[in-house]
Formats: sequence, structure tokens, C-alpha cells
Amino acid sequence: MTETSPQTLASLVGGTPLVELTRLSPKPGVRFFAKLEGQNPSGSVKDRIVLAMLDAAERRGALRPGATLVEASTGNTAIALAALAPRRGHEVRVVLPRGVVPSVADILDLYGARIEWHEPEAGMRGPVRRAQEIAARPGHYALGQFTDAANAACHYATTGAEIAAAMERVDAFVAGIGTGGTIMGVTRRLRERWPEMQAVGVEPRLGDRLQGLRSLSEGYVPPLLDLGTLSRRFLVDSASAIAAARDAMRAEGIFAGVSSGAVLHAALRVAEGMEEGNVVMMFSDGAWKYLPARPWSGSDADAESLDEVHWW
Ligand SMILES: Cc1ncc(COP(=O)(O)O)c(C=O)c1O
Repeated sequence: MTETSPQTLASLVGGTPLVELTRLSPKPGVRFFAKLEGQNPSGSVKDRIVLAMLDAAERRGALRPGATLVEASTGNTAIALAALAPRRGHEVRVVLPRGVVPSVADILDLYGARIEWHEPEAGMRGPVRRAQEIAARPGHYALGQFTDAANAACHYATTGAEIAAAMERVDAFVAGIGTGGTIMGVTRRLRERWPEMQAVGVEPRLGDRLQGLRSLSEGYVPPLLDLGTLSRRFLVDSASAIAAARDAMRAEGIFAGVSSGAVLHAALRVAEGMEEGNVVMMFSDGAWKYLPARPWSGSDADAESLDEVHWW
């Protein structure tokens, strides 16, 4: 296909830009790079895993034509599913924990997904259980991003491979932990070339909420996550994450979401301990869907009020 030929939406997933953050790197010898996953068609990193999980389930024969897809999500996976599944002939039902960023529900509604609200018991455990109940009905199928090996495998095959191809060297990789799929898959790929590379996981501080991320201190270690792979973990509070996301906009012109801010905040701490080296960060989505909740307006003044919304 030539570059000007029409493309399918699915073919636009992945291949995201990796850009250098020249103004936010804190030391001349430390270079910061961000993988801009907000450039995916539905606006987040989750387009990658949704495609991979759909393909894997079809190959296994577990996902039949016309089946209704069910998923528990705080936003991005549901949106990716709602965008990518109808074209393949599937309806989408989503179990959302109460308190997600309000525009998530609006976006899902526009895409035609059905939404069921659930209390956010033990983080995502309640919504995940409810999704499994619905999926037990005939003609339904639950994707299961927290347990499906295709999640981490697609980050190994795509995100990790793209970073490895773009970089001469990576000394630290910093990513938020939601399902753990990103950090596991990308780290495995990058350590094949740079075995000493630090893998830094970012979590919300317990009780804080950062869109897409979860605190392991809640007592739930996602099944895909092998803690032994991580070199370090950082707990980041909402106000710091939101402030760092704003810094990325003002200094670099990058319109990244709240989990990207948390990752940048942690990367600055990682850089304190480095003389020189390259730090690659995952910026998992853009800032658009967070705008109606106005997270930036109070970020210096009142951190408590920010916690009323699930930023994770
Ligand atoms: C905005 C955002 N950042 C980061 C993550 C974490 O990615 P992973 O689930 O691969 O650990 C997610 C996952 O939901 C997310 O939505």
C-alpha cells in the first residue's frame, strides 16, 4: 500500500511518536523521551491491547461473530473497545466504577456502548466481577485486560519494539501501573537489548486516584504484574501528577493526561539519581477527556478536592 492509500482504523493503532522533552530534562546529560499514546485512534494506549485481545480471542475460537463484548474499565479500555469493536460486528457493554472522569461516560455513550455503573469496591475488583457475571450469559464475551496474556504480549511486540527501534540506548523506562501490561511487555522487550535498564512503575498514593493507574497498596496485585521485574516503584499524589501534566503542556506543548503527569513526576525523581542517560516515559493518553472536570484549575490550592474524582 502506498502512503496515500486509504487505511483502516485498526491499521492506525500503534506506531506512535516518541518525542524528546528537551525543556523538561533536568540535567544536560539526562535526556527525556515520551511515547505519545494519545495519538492512537481512540486516544489512548488501550487501542493496542483491545486489538490484540480481540484478535487472540478470535484465533482461539472463544470470541464468536456477533457476540456482545463486556469489559470493566476506568475509561480508556472501554473507549478503545467501544471504538474498535462495532466495526467487527460486536456490541459493547461496559462496567464502570462510580467516580470515573465524567466525560468517559459521554464518550462511551456517543460510541454507542451500554454502560452499567458499579461501586468501586476494592478498586476494580467489584466491577471486574460484575463484568464476568454478565459475560457468563449466552452470546457474551469478557475481554479481561487484567488477566489476558495478549495484553502484555502486545506491548512486547509493538510498544517495546517501537521504542527499541527508535532509541540507541534506554537507561530507564517509566510507566504507570494499571493492569501492568505496559510495564511488563515493554520492559521484557527493552531488557533484551539493555539488560541493566531500570524499570520504574508508577502508582497513585493510596487513597489518591489517577486515571488508569492503581495502587498496589490496595492489596491487589494485577495477575499480569511480576513485581520482581520492577527496579523501583513510585507513589505519586494527584496534585503532583496534575501539576506535572501542566508543566508538560507549558514547557513542551504536549497535551498529555493525568497519568502521564504522574510518570513525568516520577521520571524527574529517577533523574535525580542519574549522572547521564536516556529515560523513556509512557504518556498513555491525552488531556482531552479530563478537561470538563477542570483538574488543572485547583491543582496548586486544594489537593483534597481533586480526589473526589477517580483520576486513576
Ligand atoms: C491513562 C492510563 N495510563 C496508564 C495506564 C496503565 O497501563 P497498564 O494497564 O498497561 O498498566 C492506563 C490503564 O488503564 C491508563 O488508562
